Amino acid sequence: MKISKVVEKIKPSGIREFFDLVIGMKDVISLGVGEPDFVTPWNICESAMFSLEKGYTSYTSNKGLYELRFAISRYLKNKFSLSYNPDHNILITTGVSEAVDLALRAILNHGDKILIPDPSYVSYDPVSELAGGKVITVKTSESDNFKLTPKLLKKYISKGVKAIVLNYPANPTGVSYPKKELMALSRVFIDNDLIVISDEIYDELTYDFPHTPLAALPGMKQRTIYLNGFSKTFAMTGWRVGYACGPEEIISAMTKIHQYTMLCAPVMGQLGAIEALRGSAKSALEMKREYKRRREFIVSKLNEIGLYCAMPEGTFYVFPSIKNTGMGSVDFAKGLLSKEKVAVVPGTAFGPQGEGHIRIAYASDMDNLKEAAQRIEHFLKNNV
Ligand SMILES: Cc1ncc(COP(=O)(O)O)c(C=O)c1O
Repeated sequence: MKISKVVEKIKPSGIREFFDLVIGMKDVISLGVGEPDFVTPWNICESAMFSLEKGYTSYTSNKGLYELRFAISRYLKNKFSLSYNPDHNILITTGVSEAVDLALRAILNHGDKILIPDPSYVSYDPVSELAGGKVITVKTSESDNFKLTPKLLKKYISKGVKAIVLNYPANPTGVSYPKKELMALSRVFIDNDLIVISDEIYDELTYDFPHTPLAALPGMKQRTIYLNGFSKTFAMTGWRVGYACGPEEIISAMTKIHQYTMLCAPVMGQLGAIEALRGSAKSALEMKREYKRRREFIVSKLNEIGLYCAMPEGTFYVFPSIKNTGMGSVDFAKGLLSKEKVAVVPGTAFGPQGEGHIRIAYASDMDNLKEAAQRIEHFLKNNV
């Protein structure tokens, strides 16, 4: 057999698999892919283009441009009173995707146990396995709003569990944790000596309470690998820039892998990211306001047409229940696509606990959302 056994065992992403069906279909309203519908703010594009004109086209240091690491360090200090030294505690990566991979490979030995919530973002599980980890799936439940709780965590923590991947606000459910709940979780992490990979890529899209970085809580900085990036907040998915902050030992281990595999994040992306932090707070806020407006519309509309949907605290996703239709997630999503040309993602793409739900990304303009809601209503009337 030519292919590695580990790779062969890994399933293709449920999102991509589903979206292969969409390719080639006409007039589809896609509420599937988790990507801002806005283009990158103009000042970011302009500043990157200007830098290219000036000849900034080469590799950067493995860790990333110092100016960007410095800007991130200052931003985290000003916003959250979190201190990370740009020389030792910050690594610029090719999106948060690469940062997740590096973090897992840097800490896991073959067979080390790692907790991954279900449902959760599609990469955590396969990338942990590629890193040699033994995944322990933490089944969250709808009755807890798909949140982790200390009680639930304790059920899954056994000897040899080394780490956990935490993501909030969360993809696909949109739920987040206020400070008090994070404090309670952090006590479990500390008591059980866990390393936490904390993916906070949607932090700026928190609507109902201030976002608290896990690393800012007492006793957490030394055990947290804090991940964030530019894709969602600044509508920069194609620029491929993210970052990891953490203890020097872990960041230098991640840098070792990064220097042999990626070398550095793209210089254009890094230059754009500097401008994003320098002069784009207003644009980010405008996009956030628009997402919030859409959130309110889509949640009330879904509930009105009979799909129970909790109000998510963040991201640009809702995760309504389709249980009362009697259909499974995949059948529902396939039916909605073929009959009404609306693309959503079956909840099971994010883990078995997502059964009975679909993920709708409301990173699409209001007209599209209104039309999609009508089509969903029509689908329910004719198929349930
Ligand atoms: C929770 C989460 N983490 C990471 C990523 C990947 O982000 P990036 O574009 O920075 O690689 C995504 C993208 O959808 C995501 O939802």
